[in-house]
Amino acid sequence: MTAAETAADRAVDRVDLSVVVPTYNEAANIAELLVRLDRAVGGATTELVVVDDSTDATADIAEEVAGSLRSQVVVLHRSQPVGGLSGAVVAGLGAARGDRCVVMDGDLQHPPEAVPGLLAALEGVDVSIASRYAAGGEAAGLSGWLRHGVSRATTLVSKAMFPNRLRECTDPMTGFFALDRRAVDLAELRPRGFKILLEILVRRQRSVREVGFTFGERTGGNSKASLRQGLWFAWQLTDLRFGRMSGFAAIGALGAVVNVAIVSLLVWWGAPFLVAAVVAAEATMVGNFLLQERWVFADLVAHADGTRHRFLRSFAFNNVESAIRISIAWWLVEHGVLTSAIATAVTLAVAFVARFVFHALVVYRP
Ligand code: GDD
Ligand code: MN
Repeated sequence: MTAAETAADRAVDRVDLSVVVPTYNEAANIAELLVRLDRAVGGATTELVVVDDSTDATADIAEEVAGSLRSQVVVLHRSQPVGGLSGAVVAGLGAARGDRCVVMDGDLQHPPEAVPGLLAALEGVDVSIASRYAAGGEAAGLSGWLRHGVSRATTLVSKAMFPNRLRECTDPMTGFFALDRRAVDLAELRPRGFKILLEILVRRQRSVREVGFTFGERTGGNSKASLRQGLWFAWQLTDLRFGRMSGFAAIGALGAVVNVAIVSLLVWWGAPFLVAAVVAAEATMVGNFLLQERWVFADLVAHADGTRHRFLRSFAFNNVESAIRISIAWWLVEHGVLTSAIATAVTLAVAFVARFVFHALVVYRP
């Protein structure tokens, strides 16, 4: 990594605010971003750190604009851009000289004018978060219902996986936040993909405060969000929380085996198939519940509602879930959309995630 410093000559020793801006081909936005940031929080002790992996003129433009700003501008050009957006953020935080650091996108979807509010919110906490989903926040810039839905669903799944760590955070996927750098050990982060805040919040319990903000539309350049980023994110989540999810899956798999055994046994004894299937399903739900209590959610039991409440919620959800799942699978097969094996597999996979989310967020609600 090479660090080309601009405005270094008038650099003041003391920096008390560093704004880290990761950029990938933001030539259309970087000048306006830096000017507006400088207007919002600029000054001799402010540093704007552009971590650039671009193939366009972003870095040149940043250095050009730097001369007319009050803030110090540092352009880090990464010759080996590892870790994507998250890696860029960690590199920026590593290079930052201020203790107070702001991280934000370089495409103007994060309004620079929101930074002072974010810094005010940082008083007395480890991390302050600009949230699209907190009071006063809005996700206008998430184009289309699909991205809205995906954003909502991934937020839910993340919160389900880390109910305690993310309790006070409505938007763990946001790329707009401020932190006290002394509160974060950069060496323990394993950045990849887009979602560095999630990892920072999940590695350790942090005190957080949120402010709502409007995620604007992107007007220049292109988004780098992609299916690939989505897969990275899925991997990151399972990796961070491998224990709970895999335990839940293992118990689900065990339940399926027991289910088949009970059905076979009852049918062998002469019970009608439908009766055997229902008895086996209900018995499995009870067994799964008991195992989950003991192995998967043990750490949440103390803070959740009483056992009877937990059981009733779990039992009711599983019954409704099976009814819906089987109806949908049946419909898909009847209409020739999928073969019965694939329909069963797909609906089971979706149900597995839904079941996990429901248990973590509702049954064992902290
Ligand atoms: N240095 C660097 N390297 N910067 C990158 C890279 C990379 O590999 N990939 C993307 N960026 C920069 C972009 O230039 C932009 O400034 C910022 O990261 C966000 O990238 P976008 O392509 O605009 O992503 P988005 O708008 O879809 O994603 C936003 O929303 C997510 C939540 O929905 C970002 O705010 C994400 O941080 C946020 O997680
Ligand atoms: Mn964007």
